Amino acid sequence: MLTVSRLCVDLGGRTVLHGVSAAVPTGGWLAVVGPNGAGKSTLLRAVAGLVEHRGSVEVGGLALAPGTDRRRRARAVAYVPQRSVLPPTMTVTDYVLLGRFAHHSYLGAETSRDRRVTAAVVERLGLAALAGRPLGQLSGGEGQRAVLARALAQEAPVLVMDEPTTSLDMGHSQLVMELTDELRRETGLTVLWTVHDLNLAAQYADAVLLLHDGRVATYGPAEQVLHPATVSRYFGATVEIVAGSHGPVVVPVRPLPRAAAYAGAGAAGPGPAERPQPNETRSSK
Ligand SMILES: Nc1ncnc2c1ncn2[C@@H]1O[C@H](COP(=O)(O)OP(=O)(O)OP(=O)(O)O)[C@@H](O)[C@H]1O
Ligand SMILES: [Mg+2]
Repeated sequence: MLTVSRLCVDLGGRTVLHGVSAAVPTGGWLAVVGPNGAGKSTLLRAVAGLVEHRGSVEVGGLALAPGTDRRRRARAVAYVPQRSVLPPTMTVTDYVLLGRFAHHSYLGAETSRDRRVTAAVVERLGLAALAGRPLGQLSGGEGQRAVLARALAQEAPVLVMDEPTTSLDMGHSQLVMELTDELRRETGLTVLWTVHDLNLAAQYADAVLLLHDGRVATYGPAEQVLHPATVSRYFGATVEIVAGSHGPVVVPVRPLPRAAAYAGAGAAGPGPAERPQPNETRSSK
């Protein structure tokens, strides 16, 4: 169980998170959505202990206060940042092995279990053919999968991922989401995740938290949170929402032309039939 209570973060002399609270049960999956600059990454960085904060973060009832020992924190929370800088000459396998550091003693070398876990994760993320390749020679999406593999190799009970599918093609996005879902069912992995694709949020997460200006705007099952009016209000986007087999499907559509919108609202203005056709020119005189 991951619990975040009244989390506040100040950055650059400005408060960017204003008392955010959320709870994700063991094996649960919470998607954090919201427009650019809403504070999503800051929330995840605070949970990963990478930014000073007020309020509390607890995993399994244990408080992870700022300054908690790195290994102890890494055994509780694995974090995939929005942007990663990869050491270009390190191989995929050696990089994923770094995720095992929290399980080593201070002077301990890697064990055969570390190698086994690493190889299994590399395989599951479809990276086996690239295992010996230097990170500098990977595509953007392959590199992103290597970062995910490193986090999964950590075997922490909580996985925090900041837009992990941004560089992935549709097939690899599904692979990563399905793998995450399998892990939470098999091992009780608890997932906190930010994503701009509201369809992925709706289809994989148990609950969606919409963050706006550093505050929780709305929080609950996707069916409750994702409404055309909510998406319009907080994202300034026009969408239609249809029922899918695994949750609501959010379809971006072109906004109605202003004139049609006026007509639909019953206000004064030309209706669609009165609008100029492509080959027709009208004079305003
Ligand atoms: N180091 C910093 N110093 C000052 N302000 C910062 C810093 N990092 C982030 N911010 C500001 O904090 C706010 C929240 O940023 P954050 O990265 O959490 O947004 P986000 O919701 O993840 O956005 P995006 O969807 O673009 O990734 C933004 O206004 C951002 O400009
Ligand atoms: Mg972000």
